[in-house]
Amino acid sequence: MPQFQRFDPSLCDFPRPAVPLLPTFRWSDLRLAAEPATRRVLDQRTGARRFARGRYALHAAYRAAGVGPRGTLLAPAYHCRTMLDPALALSAPVLLYPVSRTLAPAIEDIRALVARSTPAVRVLLVPHYFGWEQSPALMAQLDVVCRENDIVLIEDCSHAWQIAAKRVATGAAQRVLVASPYKFFASEEGGILWSSPARAGAQGTSAGLRDELKGLRSMWTGRRAGAGALPRLTGRPPAAQIARGADLTETSDAPSGMYARGTEGRDACAVACWVMRRTAVGGVVERRRANYRRWLAAVAALSGARALYPVMPADCAPYMFPLYLERPDPDFFLLKKMGLPIFRWDEMAVSECAVAADYRLRLLHLPCHQTLSEQQMQWMISVLGEVLR
Ligand SMILES: Cc1ncc(COP(=O)(O)O)c(C=O)c1O
Repeated sequence: MPQFQRFDPSLCDFPRPAVPLLPTFRWSDLRLAAEPATRRVLDQRTGARRFARGRYALHAAYRAAGVGPRGTLLAPAYHCRTMLDPALALSAPVLLYPVSRTLAPAIEDIRALVARSTPAVRVLLVPHYFGWEQSPALMAQLDVVCRENDIVLIEDCSHAWQIAAKRVATGAAQRVLVASPYKFFASEEGGILWSSPARAGAQGTSAGLRDELKGLRSMWTGRRAGAGALPRLTGRPPAAQIARGADLTETSDAPSGMYARGTEGRDACAVACWVMRRTAVGGVVERRRANYRRWLAAVAALSGARALYPVMPADCAPYMFPLYLERPDPDFFLLKKMGLPIFRWDEMAVSECAVAADYRLRLLHLPCHQTLSEQQMQWMISVLGEVLR
């Protein structure tokens, strides 16, 4: 049974993030007509099938590939729970492969794990973390391993909408792809699975009125959250007064609370699809890249942290800014207490991968999305400077 380590912040009394972690809806990001590239990529004739989230797209992909009591999922040791949840929902065993410090899959370990796994590995999951494309040479080698062993390679583009779009648009999507458009667009939800049209299966049930209203409401509240006043900076809070929470080790073979079995087969709500189709993608990519560069410049001057990816390739549309902390305690607690928006994969299945164990508490994911204002960027950079200089 998998063992998980989970950081429980309930005693820490952290405030809500002062800046939205994901893009919020703005009319100014939309075009009058649907963006042709997105329309094509979402077309069912490309083998696209829509879900409420990427995790349900993964569920359908795992199931189609034979992941279950007699088929193993081989996933990266650095992961979030929702990448494993769909396999646990299928009662499947999960194996974890190690990753390098740049989060590249360790191919020799993958070969060894495939050779000794019982039941046999049916899916190899490879994420393009934070929007950075894994090397094509490595992907080609992984293709060979998968072909020789009857394994489906799923490219996890949950952080990399533009990589999925590129693959689909150029017809180069020979692998199965999964994406989470709600991380790229200001849509309440969305998960897409691309496989060969023959394997994609029928589109699931439509979202009901309740989910549509929820989508609309979140568009509205998201907009207000994006316009909220920023807390005044009054220096670092005293570290000794912040409760540290609890780091727990638990065993479970059930999906986490972030996975709803009842949502597995349903489409993303129509309002989310409408936002995806109408968003002017070029502007989104430019603003994400500009914000990423702002983070890079700000972090270069800090002693307490460094960028995981200091170089941004020309075609990269970053999802978030991964920042490695030298002193996660107290710095993570100080940053959270000051309201900095932070994702951190601090709930993770235990593995032998030293990088995953290290990054679990040290690697922060900071927003660089298109709807951050200049003031919000400046405020976040000031908070970081206050704590990490
Ligand atoms: C790399 C990766 N893959 C898959 C998922 C699951 O995606 P979703 O949140 O759309 O269910 C996540 C979620 O954060 C993720 O980070």
